[in-house]
Amino acid sequence: MTESTRDWYLRAARELAATSARQVEWCLGVADDPRLLALLDALPPPARQPSLLFAVAAQLGAPDADYPVWADAVLARADAVAEQLPRRRVQTNEPGRCVPLTVALARIPGPIALVELGASAGLCLIPDRYGYRLRTPGGLAVLGEGPPVLEAETDATLVPQALPDIRWRRGVDLAPLDAADPEDARWLEASLPPDRPERRARLREALAAARLEPPEVVAGDALASLGALAAAAPRGSTLVVASLGTAVYLPPPDRARLLGAIRDVGARAVTFEARAALPEVAGRWDALVAEGRADPDAAFVLAIDGEPLASGSPHGGRLTSVGARTPATRQR
Ligand SMILES: C[S@@+](CC[C@H](N)C(=O)[O-])C[C@H]1O[C@@H](n2cnc3c(N)ncnc32)[C@H](O)[C@@H]1O
Repeated sequence: MTESTRDWYLRAARELAATSARQVEWCLGVADDPRLLALLDALPPPARQPSLLFAVAAQLGAPDADYPVWADAVLARADAVAEQLPRRRVQTNEPGRCVPLTVALARIPGPIALVELGASAGLCLIPDRYGYRLRTPGGLAVLGEGPPVLEAETDATLVPQALPDIRWRRGVDLAPLDAADPEDARWLEASLPPDRPERRARLREALAAARLEPPEVVAGDALASLGALAAAAPRGSTLVVASLGTAVYLPPPDRARLLGAIRDVGARAVTFEARAALPEVAGRWDALVAEGRADPDAAFVLAIDGEPLASGSPHGGRLTSVGARTPATRQR
């Protein structure tokens, strides 16, 4: 049975608990508000998505306010909201995911030619322009300069010795955003939870870094474009195709063939995706969990060529290597 819009928002309230208290409040409010439910139910199901509603409402000027005030502002813009929701897609571009990307790239012999699938504005195509402060149980590792400076907690075994040597980079996205376009930058900001000012600051700094020399992001479907992207990459570099927080937006058959398609173009694959998003990675992760070598509650999994390397928080703020934290040690 298809999930009702009310149940979707109640589920999102649980899923967003660690991300945004404000969005949890809005989710619970929408779930109990027949006016908002009627507005959403008149739209195709993908357009009813909670994060998309919050982003479109912010883009149209709805304030960061308690539910009754926010809901009245959404309803005052009901026509524009209903017009925008089916046209938009979730496009958050999270530079923090360059932490897991950099960890993985350090394990692949370079120089690197980097392709990103679902690249949004390309902020994860420039990990070599950012600074990193990686806290480990033994101390602090500092790499690069930034801004932005990306902070993360990680095991010492994952800390890269150097930033990647990226000689060529290109992204693909169904709807590429332009880091230099003020409207696109506004949309990226609107897509962030309003009560996460540190993410907004990081986004603004990354957009400024991208504007210095904007990474190219071409329009197209991730899998359909792979062959052309691989053919465009220069010889003499290791071609790496990265997929970061994008696989959940692909149709299930594309998720199932993603790693095979990357192998078929002769590229290495770096994936940092929701744990269940890629069946090949999920199967290996479940086997590691059964062996007591991996976190059963992992949110995201970092993998190279489908082999899990670490679990992580969705935006790359925490990484735990496989074998470092078994269920038994977690209980202590
Ligand atoms: C949540 S964003 C993630 C962006 C970036 N990878 C990051 O981690 O910050 C997902 C992106 O994938 C794009 N996308 C969704 N389906 C796609 C597809 N079939 N082909 C290419 N891009 C797609 C969306 O437009 C969006 O920009």
